[in-house]
Amino acid sequence: MNVREAIQKRRSIRKFKSDPVSDEMIQQILESARLAPSGSNTQPWRFIVVRDSETIKKLKIACYNQRHVGQAPVIIACCADIKAFGEFPKRIDELIAAGALPEKTREVFVPSLKKGGMNADIKWHLLIAATGNTDIAIEHMVLQAVELGLGTCWVRWFEDNKVKELLEIPHNIEIIALLPLGYPDEDPPQRPRFSLDKITYYEKYGHGINHNKPPAE
Ligand SMILES: Cc1cc2nc3c(=O)[nH]c(=O)nc-3n(C[C@H](O)[C@H](O)[C@H](O)COP(=O)(O)O)c2cc1C
Repeated sequence: MNVREAIQKRRSIRKFKSDPVSDEMIQQILESARLAPSGSNTQPWRFIVVRDSETIKKLKIACYNQRHVGQAPVIIACCADIKAFGEFPKRIDELIAAGALPEKTREVFVPSLKKGGMNADIKWHLLIAATGNTDIAIEHMVLQAVELGLGTCWVRWFEDNKVKELLEIPHNIEIIALLPLGYPDEDPPQRPRFSLDKITYYEKYGHGINHNKPPAE
C-alpha cells in the first residue's frame, strides 16, 4: 500500500473487533510517530499504550461513554510535554551536527527564541506548537495503522482531568488526543468533504483558479 492509498482508505473507525493487536504492530505504529517532524526537532510528544481492559472501560466513561473507546483492544494516549521546548538549543545543536542546519543558526535563531522568558503569552504559543507537532505524529500513526490493516479514531472529546487521573499524567503534561486502535469491524464509505475549489486559492486569498476571480460560492 502506498501513501496515497492509505490516505484514501483511512476512516474514523467506531466499531472494533476484539482481536488483540500484536506488540510488533504497536511498535511499528509508535515508530512512525517517532519519525514525525517537529518545530526545531523538539519532539514534544509522549505516548501511553493502554491495553488493560479495566482501564479502557474507565477511559470510555471519561470520553463521555463513546462506545468505540471502550471497544478498542488498545488505546494510545497521545500527550505533549511543553518543557520539551526548553531544550530546543540542544536540538538545534544536534541538527547542526547532523548537517541539517548551518552553524550560524545557533547565533541567530537560539537567542531570538530565548528572548522574553516564559510569560503567559509564550506558554499559550508553546501549547499551540505542542499540539500541532503532536498532531503530526498522531496522523503518522493513523496512516501506519491503515497499512497494517488496523483502524483508529482520533478522540479529543474527553474529560481531561479524569483521563489524567486514570493514567497518572502529571499536570504539566497536555493530553492531545486518545487513539483507540484495533481491527476494524466496519468498512464505512468516505465521509463528506469540501471540494478543492472551496478550500484552495491561487496567489492571493480569495482568488480562484482564474486569478482575480473569487471562487464560485
Ligand atoms: C482533532 C480530532 C478530534 C476528534 N474527536 C473525535 C471524538 O472525540 N470522537 C469521535 O468519534 N470522533 C472524533 N474525531 C473524528 C472526526 O469526527 C472525523 O475525522 C470526521 O468526522 C471525518 O470522518 P473520517 O475521519 O472518517 O474521514 C476527531 C477527529 C479529529 C481530527
